[in-house]
Amino acid sequence: MHSAVSTASTRIALGMRTHLDGSLRRSDVGQRVTLFGWVDSRRDHGGVIFVDLRDRTGLVQVVFQPEVSQQTHQEADALRGEFAIGITGMVRPRAEGMANPKLETGEIEVAADGLVIYNRSRPLPFPLDDLEVDENLRLKYRYLEMRGKQLARNLAVRHRIAQRIRRFMDERGFLEIETPVLTKSTPEGARDYLVPSRVHPGEFFALPQSPQIFKQILMVAGMDRYFQIVRCFRDEDLRADRQPEFTQLDVELSWTSQDQVLTLHEELITTLLREIRGVELPLPLQRMTWAEAMDRFGSDKPDTRFGLELVDLTEMTRDCGFNVFSGAPVVKAIRVPGGGATISRSQIDAMTDFVKKFGAKGLAYIKVGESAGPVVKNITPELVERISSRMEAQPSDLIFFGADRYDVVCETLGRLRLKLGQDLKLIDENRWDLLWVVDFPMFEWHPGDRRFYAMHHPFTSPKDESLPLVAKLAQAAASGQDLTAEQIAECAQIKANAYDMVLNGVELGGGSIRIHRRDVQEWVFQLLGLAPDEIRQKFGFMLEAFEFGTPPHGGLAFGLDRLAMLLTGGAAIRDVIAFPKTQQARDLMADAPGPVDPGQLKELHIKLDLG
Ligand code: AMO
Ligand code: AMP
Repeated sequence: MHSAVSTASTRIALGMRTHLDGSLRRSDVGQRVTLFGWVDSRRDHGGVIFVDLRDRTGLVQVVFQPEVSQQTHQEADALRGEFAIGITGMVRPRAEGMANPKLETGEIEVAADGLVIYNRSRPLPFPLDDLEVDENLRLKYRYLEMRGKQLARNLAVRHRIAQRIRRFMDERGFLEIETPVLTKSTPEGARDYLVPSRVHPGEFFALPQSPQIFKQILMVAGMDRYFQIVRCFRDEDLRADRQPEFTQLDVELSWTSQDQVLTLHEELITTLLREIRGVELPLPLQRMTWAEAMDRFGSDKPDTRFGLELVDLTEMTRDCGFNVFSGAPVVKAIRVPGGGATISRSQIDAMTDFVKKFGAKGLAYIKVGESAGPVVKNITPELVERISSRMEAQPSDLIFFGADRYDVVCETLGRLRLKLGQDLKLIDENRWDLLWVVDFPMFEWHPGDRRFYAMHHPFTSPKDESLPLVAKLAQAAASGQDLTAEQIAECAQIKANAYDMVLNGVELGGGSIRIHRRDVQEWVFQLLGLAPDEIRQKFGFMLEAFEFGTPPHGGLAFGLDRLAMLLTGGAAIRDVIAFPKTQQARDLMADAPGPVDPGQLKELHIKLDLG
């Protein structure tokens, strides 16, 4: 610690910081301080130089006056934005009327008597904290963006979330165990990132899409309760809430039930909401079946903060003579209160184009009370009346219709509902609607590929009561014959012990009670169309492990980035990741991915074919 006042600036010792820049208060008046940081701004007021000194905790005003130190005042003349400096000085109250209530340190300033400039800075390519600046430029200079308030604050919140999670899990007997990053493919529905092996020519590691198989094997190993804050890698189309590498809170427990998994994790998430956001949510959380979520909201991650629910009109319109309705397996509608008066024809056309992107053939509508329109002219006035009554419509409401297969109607009206909710500002941003969606279907049929996919992943257990059916259908699938339409329909009805947690329409996490019997696991692989060789090659080690007294187990994984995004009020997970990638999966700062030299490729036995 410097005890004597020194004008010999070089005597400021690195490592001897007394305070962080944002921490000084009125109670510190009279203290000698040593501060470090960046010059946020510098103003020269006729002989007195004011510098706002900044570190990640905030700003403090530093004053350089010749009467305090001639030499230091002279040196301060050279200061410019973002110079990295250290100062010593005395904390004093600001002059009468000069306090800045917007700044936490606004009642005081530091009269500097020593200064060291450690490094100069080029002028910044953009002002810090200016969100209007092109995002690509901000990503290229991510370290500068991080000097701004917003990102630094988000990263600090993310840190607190991770620390709180660790404490929560530790208190409940979970062990944090690391699993490999160089491993074998774990199917989670995306493409793998592959890593060529040098020592095994022609062979590849896959980066984990999740630690799913390893955590289940940890249960076989008797680890009982596991968690990990873990990086996962998925080569998939990116969106605001997806990154090619992202972080999960991954959890697995033995001897557990769905009820126990849900109870434990709703306690964790509500603890975070309470401690990080001051939001108190009553427990237990709502548990909505997948079927109800799809029926009412057209989505398996329903945003329940506003209405515009889907209403089924299939029966009512079955024989109405209007082919758009009577020719479709399912007809559903949503009603926009007052929309008949406020939504224009061209807006409806834009919405029609919008739903077509998601597979709708059109977007029929009724402006309630009007006698013209694409639907009204095609159906009887009585049916218009019955539809209005069923939709509880008032004159000047607007009713939109979806008529198609169930999945298409849900997808398109569900998306339209969200768009309307946003466009018409129907969403109460202060609400925290947290719920579980449960009883997901086990399998999803893809007509194009003519095969089933696992809706969660293939290690998820089917409900006990459907095990005989799973066994029967697996046998049929394994015999090599195509499943009949009836078998496909039966299989699509099978429900899984799978669950997702949804917050304000965002899937925060999901998991399942797993299969712990080798035979059941094999049935599921067979139903997914895997040949015996493929099963052995990809999952043989897991099936073998299942032969050694595997305990019943289950778990889930949360998207830590998504959780941090929601808890910080960010719009994209990029806002809570220090060095994220762009929508094109590039790191603009490090300029990755990039070419490698031919020698490296040769060593890896790789020849490029960029045709
Ligand atoms: P799932 O695939 O549902 O389950 O992933 C769990 C959670 O991870 C988050 N997430 C992502 N976040 C950012 N970018 C991505 N590309 C991305 N993909 C997923 C989501 C999601 O809810 N092994 C299972 C979990 C289990 O069964 O225990 C799994 O990975 O918030
Ligand atoms: P059409 O008889 O094809 O001229 O369509 C009449 C109205 O129904 C138009 O408003 C279309 O946008 C709409 N429409 C057509 N097909 C569908 C569908 N499958 N679901 C909902 N609306 C549709």
